[in-house]
Amino acid sequence: MKKALILSLSFYTCIYPQFAHALTALPKSPEIPKDNPQSVEKINLGKTLYFDPRLSKNGMLSCNSCHNLALGGDDNRAVSLSFKGEKGGRSSPTVWNSAFHTTQFWDGREKSLEAQAVGPIVNPVEMGMPDFPTVVERLKKIPGYVTMFDKVFGKNSITKENIGKALASFERTLVTPNSPFDQYMHGNKKALSPEAQRGMKLVQEVGCTVCHSGANFSGENKMGEGNFQKFPVYPDNDYVKKYNLMVDTGRFTVTNVEDDKHIWRVPTWRNIALTAPYFHNGSVKTLDEAVRVMAKAQLNVDLKENQVKDIVAFLTSTTGTFPKIEIPRLPPTLGETVVDED
Ligand code: HEC
Ligand code: HEC
Repeated sequence: MKKALILSLSFYTCIYPQFAHALTALPKSPEIPKDNPQSVEKINLGKTLYFDPRLSKNGMLSCNSCHNLALGGDDNRAVSLSFKGEKGGRSSPTVWNSAFHTTQFWDGREKSLEAQAVGPIVNPVEMGMPDFPTVVERLKKIPGYVTMFDKVFGKNSITKENIGKALASFERTLVTPNSPFDQYMHGNKKALSPEAQRGMKLVQEVGCTVCHSGANFSGENKMGEGNFQKFPVYPDNDYVKKYNLMVDTGRFTVTNVEDDKHIWRVPTWRNIALTAPYFHNGSVKTLDEAVRVMAKAQLNVDLKENQVKDIVAFLTSTTGTFPKIEIPRLPPTLGETVVDED
């Protein structure tokens, strides 16, 4: 077993030397794309759209329904429910710090937050709008939006592209700095408990940080490229069967390329204690069990219970400071409704 571990480690570090082990504090701000600069008005428009259930067909769901900013930025469900209450296929990931991800979605199928943000609005198992012309038509009936879009993007600017840009601008403000881990990295050695410090050493020694490195613990690389890894690396164990981890084929569902079967983008560890249940199918309810599963499925290691505890203490130390977000008043349609009955 030791041998397999060492082999797999040297395999990854030699192919992907840039991913090897480095852990860093969260930067103050994520990268801002040149074609979508931040402005107070744009962020505010994005926030308003984010909280507006009228982006869903029957007014049931806003982005915040599945990515609740009063919680860990997810819905704490195994899989999300659509505007009709039907179960979707995957678990809702957190939107906190998603701006630091170099690709979006469990399978990394979108390269930017702009491209990602417009997907859920017309996804039949999410917000269920039939198409973008209908979304644009609906927003044009809300006078407050016409004014807001005019101010940010110019006249006649309610478009799919600009909706994506505004939402992405707001999402780039959803960062949670100053966790005990970050304080420790900035030199305050007392910020981490002895347990968490042992856990921090362990994740590096055992090999977790071969994949979970960098400021977001999702592997350092360039925007748009993504850190894609196999999961499970070791499929032949009880955890993989018990939690149905081989059913969804990950990136294969996007590319149809055989080698992409069970390849996933490495997710963040930040605020992970707040975002149970775990994995793409939300099948694991507790963080300690997720750690056992990962050690076995990715590294073929059976952790001792005190090691699991230490790693959980470390993972919990990535819980950051959440910015204050005032829930916006949404622009009204006086005396009429724009949402569908069903
Ligand atoms: C019905 C629940 C639901 C709604 C509503 C919803 N999402 Fe999601 N969101 C999900 C699920 C589930 C995924 C993961 C899907 C996958 O990976 O295949 C996801 C993925 C994401 C991601 C990728 C995060 C990552 O780590 O890769 C972002 C960002 C995001 N959604 C933002 C939004 C925004 C913005 C809106 C509103 C326009 C929205 N979502 C509406 C359920 C929802
Ligand atoms: C070979 C790369 C690799 C290694 C090594 C690895 N992971 Fe992961 N980790 C992943 C991938 C990929 C996923 C996404 C799995 C999925 O699709 O559900 C993941 C998911 C997770 C999750 C669940 C995230 C969520 O939001 O649900 C946790 C927790 C986690 N890893 C912790 C660890 C720990 C602790 C270790 C070491 C014991 C470790 N990982 C080792 C690649 C790796």
